[in-house]
Amino acid sequence: MKKLSILFICLGNICRSPMAQGVFSKLVKEQKLESRFFIDSAGIQDFHIGSSPDLRAQKVAKTRDIDVTQQIARQVKFDDFENFDYLLVMDDDNHHALLQCCPTKLQHKINYFLSFVPQLKTLKVPDPYYGGEQGFEEVLVLLEKASIGFLNYLKQKYKL
Ligand code: 4NP
Repeated sequence: MKKLSILFICLGNICRSPMAQGVFSKLVKEQKLESRFFIDSAGIQDFHIGSSPDLRAQKVAKTRDIDVTQQIARQVKFDDFENFDYLLVMDDDNHHALLQCCPTKLQHKINYFLSFVPQLKTLKVPDPYYGGEQGFEEVLVLLEKASIGFLNYLKQKYKL
């Protein structure tokens, strides 16, 4: 059976999207669904290509037993639009930037990750880069909620 492929996207691919990849991967593993998924992350910008996740992201993830230390930042590439089933963005800037370069017929693949938690009444995962560790913890909580909402959506849709 074809794997569902999920790409988490933020600006730099060193804070929010690596954490999203880690949180969602952990949830998928807990539910013994890892054989059904390919999960990756990427950034809009090229600033941090080749870097490990921000140390604050590594530290906060570790508090949940999530290891993001082996992830390496990369930039979104054109093939991603074709190759991934879901391209999940963290904020309006990411959304806008992707729509600029995504072929119209593939734009339906682009979604806000927080759209899978309608109760939150926001679509924005705040950029924690210029703040303190508390901001990373807040991001993690949002990503945990979104991961649960998104996986429940997929389980229903694809009868996983
Ligand atoms: P991310 O955070 O998009 O969540 O990875 C950022 C990382 C780096 C920068 C901005 C946001 N930066 O300006 O270098």
